[in-house]
Amino acid sequence: MSWDERFSGTDFYYGTEPSDFVTRQAWRLERGAAVLSVAEGEGRNAVWLAAQGMCVHALDGSAPALEKAHRLAEARGVSITSEHADLTRYIWPIGAYGAIFGVFIQFAPPALRAAIFRGMAQALHPGGLLFLHGFSTRQLENSSGGPKAIDQLWTLDLLRAAFAGWEILHQADYDAQLDEGPGHAGRAALLDFVARKPAA
Ligand SMILES: C[S@@+](CC[C@H](N)C(=O)[O-])C[C@H]1O[C@@H](n2cnc3c(N)ncnc32)[C@H](O)[C@@H]1O
Repeated sequence: MSWDERFSGTDFYYGTEPSDFVTRQAWRLERGAAVLSVAEGEGRNAVWLAAQGMCVHALDGSAPALEKAHRLAEARGVSITSEHADLTRYIWPIGAYGAIFGVFIQFAPPALRAAIFRGMAQALHPGGLLFLHGFSTRQLENSSGGPKAIDQLWTLDLLRAAFAGWEILHQADYDAQLDEGPGHAGRAALLDFVARKPAA
């Protein structure tokens, strides 16, 4: 099923509430921060971050998802900007954001993932914060969501290597119960990673 098909219904495939990771880690942001949410989907995280006072730009490859993100923002009385873009050929801006979120962006096999991580590093300004959250390789044992290809799943070693030299502010490899719409439901093996881009 394509992402557009997945997001074409009236319900929200991953729910309308933010990821628990986003609510736990957003205290690190200052109000008014310029935030990019990569592969944002139907807006659950972008809209919540906007409600906390952030200036949020939501990027996704699915137009129906972004339409729903704007409807969710309107319903919650906040505004976000959005960009319909394919990350396989995206021209990343330079130093445009104070923070970037990548939450469940594991559609990307290794070469695309590396390009996305490079792009995120480029798009953050010096000292900016990167927030990554997704499934660990242990998720293959579960049926609560995520790709069934191990090379699309992450380990903390992989993330630390991708952002070598960055200050790691938070990292965690843990199991938790997901209740995020029909897309993520049940016991899951998760990773959190928050790091600061070097200032120079
Ligand atoms: C698992 S969903 C996660 C959505 C959202 N981050 C969340 O946690 O609710 C993955 C998202 O990646 C987007 N996506 C997949 N391939 C993409 C690509 N090549 N370029 C941009 N977005 C893409 C999909 O449209 C989908 O919204």
